[in-house]
Amino acid sequence: MTKVLLVGCGKMGSAMLAGWLDQGIAPADMVVVEPSAPMLPATVVTDEAAIPAGFDPDVVVLAVKPQVMAEVLPPYGRFKRAVFLSIAAGKPIDFFRTHLGQDAAIIRAMPNTPAAVRRGITVCCPGPGVDAARRALCQSLLEAVGEVGWVEDEALMDAVTAVSGSGPAYVFLLAEVMAAAGVAQGLPPELAARLARATVSGAGELLRQSADAAEQLRKNVTSPGGTTAAALAVLMAETDGFGRLLAEAVAAATRRGKELAG
Ligand SMILES: NC(=O)c1ccc[n+]([C@@H]2O[C@H](COP(=O)([O-])OP(=O)(O)OC[C@H]3O[C@@H](n4cnc5c(N)ncnc54)[C@H](OP(=O)(O)O)[C@@H]3O)[C@@H](O)[C@H]2O)c1
Repeated sequence: MTKVLLVGCGKMGSAMLAGWLDQGIAPADMVVVEPSAPMLPATVVTDEAAIPAGFDPDVVVLAVKPQVMAEVLPPYGRFKRAVFLSIAAGKPIDFFRTHLGQDAAIIRAMPNTPAAVRRGITVCCPGPGVDAARRALCQSLLEAVGEVGWVEDEALMDAVTAVSGSGPAYVFLLAEVMAAAGVAQGLPPELAARLARATVSGAGELLRQSADAAEQLRKNVTSPGGTTAAALAVLMAETDGFGRLLAEAVAAATRRGKELAG
């Protein structure tokens, strides 16, 4: 059976843990290191020194905040057999090899917050020497909270972060500004917020379930000369439309990711 050591059980860690239990990983095969010592169906310890002697994980999932990662990592280098799966935003593979040992097997992953409802998407990038079996193990653990994709070129992780990592915030903003625009047209705020929420989540679900691309679904609701066409003429304007704005936003996030990585 797969033995999992989870380091950090906050928002992302607890979502993954719930998914692993559903996948059938036995509580006895999971050890969680979390200072706040939550009650969990796993062995929970408050620091690394208290990990039960003899627990030899197949995978160490690193789910603490990036800011504390450097001080947290060094003692975990003793788990020589394990693959280290980091979900920390912005921390490159070399950073983990520096703190865990140059031979450590690292997979860097970028999940997103819909993981909390098992509808996330995580993109992984393998470090040097990570074999197919370890990739498959990490993929299966991450599939507990949604879809999984891979890139071989780590430089692409900044663009991944800018699209899917930060992306949920763009969609929430869409719901916010859609509601505000409805209020500006005279709708009561509560109704406008409800319409925006249901429209964003309903359209998202339609996109998920449909075999059609987003472009086709958009065309399906756009009659020539109709109301949607009038709105899209504004949103799709070449110089100041939504496409241009989002391209700039994603470019800004990609640049910021590179800056933060140093
Ligand atoms: N949330 C997101 O949208 C998202 C998306 C993509 C990637 N990520 C990445 O996921 C990671 C976790 O994010 P999160 O949102 O789940 O943060 P979080 O809720 O703050 O969880 C981090 C947990 O780690 C614990 N911790 C602190 N020091 C520790 C130590 N020495 N050993 C073990 N655990 C320790 C914290 O406990 P205390 O609170 O008691 O300090 C906290 O419960 C981050 O690296 C983040 O970059 C998050």
